[in-house]
Amino acid sequence: MRIIAPSILSADFSRLGEEIRAVEAAGADWIHIDVMDGHFVPNLTIGPGVVASLRRITRLPFDVHLMIAEPDRYLDAFLAAGSDFLTVHAEAVVHLHRAIAYIKEKGVKAGVSINPATPPAMIEPVLADIDLLLVMTVNPGFGGQKFIPTMIPKIQAARRMIDETAPHVVLEVDGGITVANIDTAAAAGATAFVAGNAVFSSPDYRQAITALKG
Ligand code: DX5
Ligand code: ZN
Repeated sequence: MRIIAPSILSADFSRLGEEIRAVEAAGADWIHIDVMDGHFVPNLTIGPGVVASLRRITRLPFDVHLMIAEPDRYLDAFLAAGSDFLTVHAEAVVHLHRAIAYIKEKGVKAGVSINPATPPAMIEPVLADIDLLLVMTVNPGFGGQKFIPTMIPKIQAARRMIDETAPHVVLEVDGGITVANIDTAAAAGATAFVAGNAVFSSPDYRQAITALKG
């Protein structure tokens, strides 16, 4: 069963609560929340205050993706805001093992994300410690970009690593996921799928999510 996590980055920000309720009613499994700081990525989005407000309107798990420099400085804020999965970028953290341990100590699931140019081997030493590996299939910063096809072998490599040493880890892909490529990403070994544009640009969220579930 595929986990579909609509990214609210592509939602109508003037109606964020309604948009989340709508994708929840349409069968979304998680809500993917993209946090950007204008440093690690060239865009600014939302902070912990918005996450805390949204926490009150849905029971769906919050899959919080921190695309920020020095994420350690903001872990407490996003933990308190109600993250279920809290994901940091391997490229942004100096002491990755410490950040993962800190998140888990607080009773939240820890994720690590890797950019398209980062090899999965970079996170191998901490793979057994994490709950989620988020493989970026676009360069992070914006919704609505094209899936990078050369990420398929990387997803396969990540799947092999997970199966061999840490089968509990959820393998999630993020960026440019559509009905046209989700089967390929799933066949490569991904089990959770972020979908921004593919859901929120569709006139019918239920139909979009059902189609992605395959
Ligand atoms: C990219 C974000 C993604 C993005 C996904 O920087 O991390 O979550 O919003 O949106 P789509 O599915 O439109 O590529
Ligand atoms: Zn994301």
